[in-house]
Formats: sequence, structure tokens, C-alpha cells
Amino acid sequence: MTITRSDVADAPGASTQAEIGPNTPAVRATVPYAMDDSNYVPKERYYDRAFFELEKQHLWPRTWQMAARLEEIPEPGDYTEYEVAGNSILIVRQQDGSVKALHNACRHRATELAKGCGRMAGGQIVCPFHGWRWNIDGSNAFVFMDDEFDPVNLKPEALRLRECLVEVWGGMVWINLDPEAVPFTEALAPLIPMFDALAIENMRVKWWKQIILKANWKLTMEAFHEGYHGYQTHPQLLTGRGMSFETAVKIIKEMEYLNLSGGHSRSYSRYLDPAEYNLNGDDFIESNRLLATGQDAMALEKDVQIFEGLRNKIGVDDPKFSEKAIQALYDYAEGAGIPMPPLSEHMQQWGGVVFLFPNYFILPQFGNALVYRMRPHDDDPEQCLFDVWSLTTYPRGQEPGRAELLGLFDKDDKEHWGLIPRQDFSNIERQQRGLHSQSFEHMRLSPRQEKTILHLHQELDRVIARGVSA
Ligand code: FES
Ligand SMILES: [Fe+2]
Repeated sequence: MTITRSDVADAPGASTQAEIGPNTPAVRATVPYAMDDSNYVPKERYYDRAFFELEKQHLWPRTWQMAARLEEIPEPGDYTEYEVAGNSILIVRQQDGSVKALHNACRHRATELAKGCGRMAGGQIVCPFHGWRWNIDGSNAFVFMDDEFDPVNLKPEALRLRECLVEVWGGMVWINLDPEAVPFTEALAPLIPMFDALAIENMRVKWWKQIILKANWKLTMEAFHEGYHGYQTHPQLLTGRGMSFETAVKIIKEMEYLNLSGGHSRSYSRYLDPAEYNLNGDDFIESNRLLATGQDAMALEKDVQIFEGLRNKIGVDDPKFSEKAIQALYDYAEGAGIPMPPLSEHMQQWGGVVFLFPNYFILPQFGNALVYRMRPHDDDPEQCLFDVWSLTTYPRGQEPGRAELLGLFDKDDKEHWGLIPRQDFSNIERQQRGLHSQSFEHMRLSPRQEKTILHLHQELDRVIARGVSA
């Protein structure tokens, strides 16, 4: 079946109807286990080999992805490797400060040229097998005993390392393996102003850890797409704090979920009037303390100390406690030279989640953020590699040096994961196993609480259909 342009909106300004909401019959007929009913997600999408292969062929090589933080490669010659769906890409800082993304395969006999991260010794990329060399811009510099080769194999253009599209934005390196890809600014259009207003580019890595989960990459992502799980999975954040059941339910119901074109989405809590919800300064401090101790991200110990200082100064019953607390944070930041995002705007995004299709999340708060990225692992539909970063904004001139991965940690590792991520991790592999129960037919979605999950699956079908018909 051929998909026409009217079946799949693939350009900005094209019908947003086709970008948000159910897909056309042509798309649905093209994709196996397609999203045919907005109430259900077919279970096979999380483990079927053929579906996984379609993602490998049409999603990963054709979508913009966050491949690295800029501070992973501060100096010329620094590199870091990004692997996805059978491709390895070297992200390399150039002499002029720009960044290139080079396919990590020797032009001689395919050996991967570098692994992990580091600095190219001697300013060149050297193949460990026979010693061919490249300049960091990808041009070939040396072929050992080149007189032993037919000149047909030595043409400079043939020997040049292949490049991917690269964009640097928000302190990150974004790549696309498809030379014909839609420009980055089009693909990310709905999110760019939002990120810019949050001054994401001022943030730096506080810590960076990884985990491998025995679950499909989408299933893992979905655990962070809704606040509906908060009541059962993270009781300490709601009723465990002494909040009534009714208040907890109200807070969950007050979550706003927005689907944006391109598969992206955003969710956040609407402003809660402290009087209506019977929340005082103690609740504000305590909820932030739980974030600081429970995940060391979004709210940090230093923020809690500032809020505690205010407790002594104005008392927790001040009706404007939370506003004054945030103002105190900004006053501190100003004195310390911390370039925070503008105070007045985008407050609603604090505590919310911004999802960038296909696999990147940012949860911004107070000039800090918790960030997630999920990818398939080991060519297995039922495993994923999950990166977690805590970002914060440092005083100007005091930003830390090169960002390095702290390591790969087990889901139950209490030393390396706070309570909140461990609670989230604890359900994901159980859910993946449950998918194989002979009793289970399909995921059942709430049209409001889980609408961003529906949206990412519908977008995935559009992407696959476009690829199949290309
Ligand atoms: S495989 Fe790289 S130089 Fe031979
Ligand atoms: Fe959670």
C-alpha cells in the first residue's frame, strides 16, 4: 500500500489533525499491531520482533535524538559514543568548537574506531586493527602501506568517515542519521520556545547514571508519561505526607496533559491554591525535601535549606509561602551569580514533564532538571538502556568540568538510586513480564491521564508508515 502525503502529515503547517489523533486507514493498514482503537495499545508492540525491526529500520535512523551533553566533550578531540539500534556514532568536538557526528566504522574493514568516551590521542582517530587514521573532521589522514591497495580503494571521498546531521541546542548534541531528515527546528518546533524560556542551556550535569531494564524501551518511557501512578507507586509524595485521599485525587486530576505535533507532549500540575488544598509552608518544604532526598534532582538540598531559612523568617502559615520561597531562591541565585530562567514565565512547567519524541524527557524545576533517555538494548525488544541525569545551574564561572557517566547500576541499588526512581523501576520489569500472561489482551488507556502514551504510539505508527512507503 502506498501512503500519500495526505495520509501522513510530514511537514510543519500540514494538517495538525493528521499529526495528533487517530491515524488514517492507510497508516493503520501499513503498520502491524497498529493503534486502531484509542482505548487500547496492542501488547505485541512491546515484544514482537517484526515490530521491533520496523522501529530499527524506520524510527531510529530517521528521528532527531539527543546524542550527548555538550560538557561530555569540552575540548577539541574529545569524543563520546552514542549507540542506537545497531549504529554507533562518534560525537567529536572540532578544533573550532563545533561538533561532528561520525559513523563509527572503519572504512577499511568496518572496525569500530573508538568506544565509550575519551580524547583522540594525537588529535587523530586511529583504527585499532591496521592503523588507518583520520583527522577529527572525518577526513582520512593515513593508510598504512597504501601502495598495497588499488587506487580505487584510496579515493579521499571514499575514505572520509560518514557524517550524520548534527545540531547543538540547549547544551546538547542532537543527531539524525537520515541525510534527508526534516530540519531539527521543524521537528522540535513546538518545544524550542519552551526550552529556551527555561534556560536549559545554562544547566550542567550534576550526576549521570544508567540502568538496563528487562523491558521494552516504550514501556519504560510510559512509566514517566503520567502522574496517575503517583498515588500507588509513590505514596510518600501524597497521602504518606498526611494529605487526605480526596486532596491526593484532586492533585492527580488537576494534571494537565498536552499533545503536541510530532509526537511530543507536555504535562504539568495546574496551579493549586494553597487555601483550597489546605497546603501550607510545611507541605511545600516537605514535598521539596522528598524530591531532594528521594532523587537528588529537581529540588536539591541547597534549595531545601533556603526554604527552611524562610520558615524561620515568615512562618509556614504565611498564605504566600510558596511564592515567597521561590522568590528567596531567586534572591539567593542572584547573589551567587546563578543564571536562573526568568521568574515570571513558565512557572507552570515546574514539576511537569516535557517529552520529546521519540525518547527524551525533561522535568524542569527551579533551574534544576531531571532528565531521562531510553533506547533499546542488545538488539532485544525486551531490554532497554535508560540514562538518568540530574542537571542544575551553577554560578557563572563555577561550572564543573567534563561530565562523565558515574556507572551502570542495578534497579535495587539503594546506594545509587533514590527512593523515587527505585519505586518507578520496581514496576517496569513486572509489567513487561505481565504482557506475556495468556490472560492479557492489550493495554487499557485512560483518555485523559494516559493520553500522551496514546499520542506517542500514534506518532510511531505515522513514522513507520512513512518509512515503509518511502
Ligand atoms: S579495519 Fe580499520 S584499518 Fe583495517
Ligand atoms: Fe514515578
